[in-house]
Amino acid sequence: MKILVLIGSPRKANTYHTVQKIEQYHKQISDCEYEYLFLKDINLGLCKGCFTCIAKGEENCPLKDDRDWIVQKIKTADGVILASPNYAANVPWLMKNYIDRFAYTLHRPKYFNQKFMLLITSGSFMGVKSAMKALSIMVSGGNVINRLSVLNSPQMNDKKQKIQEEKIKKNTEKFAKLMNKKKSSKPTFSYLIWFSAFKAASEINKNSLPADYQYYKNKDYFINCKLNIFQRIVIKISTNFFRFMVRKGLV
Ligand SMILES: Cc1cc2nc3c(=O)[nH]c(=O)nc-3n(C[C@H](O)[C@H](O)[C@H](O)COP(=O)(O)O)c2cc1C
Repeated sequence: MKILVLIGSPRKANTYHTVQKIEQYHKQISDCEYEYLFLKDINLGLCKGCFTCIAKGEENCPLKDDRDWIVQKIKTADGVILASPNYAANVPWLMKNYIDRFAYTLHRPKYFNQKFMLLITSGSFMGVKSAMKALSIMVSGGNVINRLSVLNSPQMNDKKQKIQEEKIKKNTEKFAKLMNKKKSSKPTFSYLIWFSAFKAASEINKNSLPADYQYYKNKDYFINCKLNIFQRIVIKISTNFFRFMVRKGLV
């Protein structure tokens, strides 16, 4: 089993050491291989904010670097750990730049068959929630099978350290267990709404967002799957609702 780890810390320290613990526990349970990608060492240019990837398609991004190589790595791994520290109640700039560079996947999600574990390391509880939320955006259609936040405070006594160690172990066991389950891409209610909103917007903004229009125009849902009658009704009603809202300029 191949696990890809994407680390958003500008240094090889707490976040890396926490993932090493996860790797160690994981290897005690199942046969797995970890590959580490440090954003600090990867050639991923700074997003220029030109909007080209979103409007005209990611293939037209003016930055020619390792972005598509990362996409390939994510797609071919059996599971992905997105790991980042919490800096000032958010992810640090390296991870934020990664999020911005992949912003087009919010319009056209990509990773429906992938499984993710999200890890935030932090000095306290301050800002963990918002950092985790930022990381969640990057999953883009994939299945989050585990969310873990870990404290690295110097004030942690032995008892707290032990509890924390147990937490990392338990989460790793859960991650390992779910990794072995068959990948599922069930259209959840929120994904049906997401699909409807973007499909409606892509029709109305087809000249300004041609890449979205091409992506959605012949799709009943993000991926090819059998939708039940309830799911079809949800898509129909909410697409009409969003058409109305977009036309009226209300969204
Ligand atoms: C610039 C900076 C800002 C930070 N901001 C926060 C914060 O808002 N909340 C918090 O709990 N910890 C904060 N921390 C502590 C880190 O989240 C914590 O030490 C983390 O484990 C560092 O991981 P790293 O060694 O991989 O960089 C901050 C650390 C730095 C360097």
